[in-house]
Amino acid sequence: MISIAANHRLPVTRCRTFPMLRKSLAKSLGFALTAMLCLPLAACGGWQSALNAHGPEAERLAKLFWFFTAVCGVVWLLVILALGWALFRGTRRTSAPNDPVLVDPDQERRSAVAVWGLTAASVVVLVVFTLVSFFASRGLNAASANTLNIEVTGYQWWWQVRYLDPNPSLTFTTANEIHVPVGRPVKVRLVAADVIHSFWVPNLAGKLDLIPGQTNELTFAANRPGVYRGQCAEFCGLQHAFMGLRVIAEPEQDFGAWRARQIQPARQSDDDLVRSGERVFLNNGCILCHTIRGTTAGGRAGPDLTHIGSRSAIAADTLPNTLGYMAGWIADPQSIKPGNYMPSVPLDGGDLNALVHYLEALK
Ligand code: CUA
Repeated sequence: MISIAANHRLPVTRCRTFPMLRKSLAKSLGFALTAMLCLPLAACGGWQSALNAHGPEAERLAKLFWFFTAVCGVVWLLVILALGWALFRGTRRTSAPNDPVLVDPDQERRSAVAVWGLTAASVVVLVVFTLVSFFASRGLNAASANTLNIEVTGYQWWWQVRYLDPNPSLTFTTANEIHVPVGRPVKVRLVAADVIHSFWVPNLAGKLDLIPGQTNELTFAANRPGVYRGQCAEFCGLQHAFMGLRVIAEPEQDFGAWRARQIQPARQSDDDLVRSGERVFLNNGCILCHTIRGTTAGGRAGPDLTHIGSRSAIAADTLPNTLGYMAGWIADPQSIKPGNYMPSVPLDGGDLNALVHYLEALK
């Protein structure tokens, strides 16, 4: 085969291949330049973006990302320039043109120097990448004495959030929304109730898996007030894409007030509609899955609803928390998140209306 190939000069094939390569090279260069020009216009900001860092951990990761992007961009550019130079310079005359069996010793030496030089450069780049990643991730998870401790449990398809405290009367459970004080480190214990999930609030920290039977820990801090969106980042079943959460970073005082309210059991209301809504809740199977502290409802399968009215969204950040959306969710949860574990509860219009007024009053 080798001798046949060596003895056949292929001028026609070469003439066709080179212009095609040149064309595709010009095309890919054009595409890359367009992409580079569009990058500043693309949405690198927003409340769910790793490139819009609002905390020290996310800043480290964003710097790491830009460093990798810059180095890889330069390497890509050099490779394309070298390829372009090789294609456009044409075929150089050597002592043995078009005959691959005969070698030019000078050419071979130059090739060897180029190959070894580029191999060494690649090794240097990889070692630098490894060291930079190591030092960037070593600085993550630095907790301090005033760290806020939270346990987040991943369920299909929502997040249980428990605020931990050495004093048991200060612990409480909520769902899908995490309030944190600005500037204070938050240590999150990550556990899973069923399958593997992944906790990711890109503006504040990197992602970390929640694995059944194992506890992982992630520390982050928000360095300014704001609402940051998180998302389960590991495929965990049918409604994985609708397993969102919110982190609400607020000044220490606001956080303290929120926490004090959340610790309290549900308030009893004097409103007749709200009271009849409570009866609907307690008499219709809702209590098998949900807890409302201060009532007989103590179910553990679904989110704690003690202060559901104080949350901004329902169904794991799928719908805004309003009377109308709440009614729609209770009436037919399967059409909103098909496959989720909330059954439809058959209620007449009056009962449904009372129920949603009760839930929305649970501030
Ligand atoms: Cu939980 Cu994806």
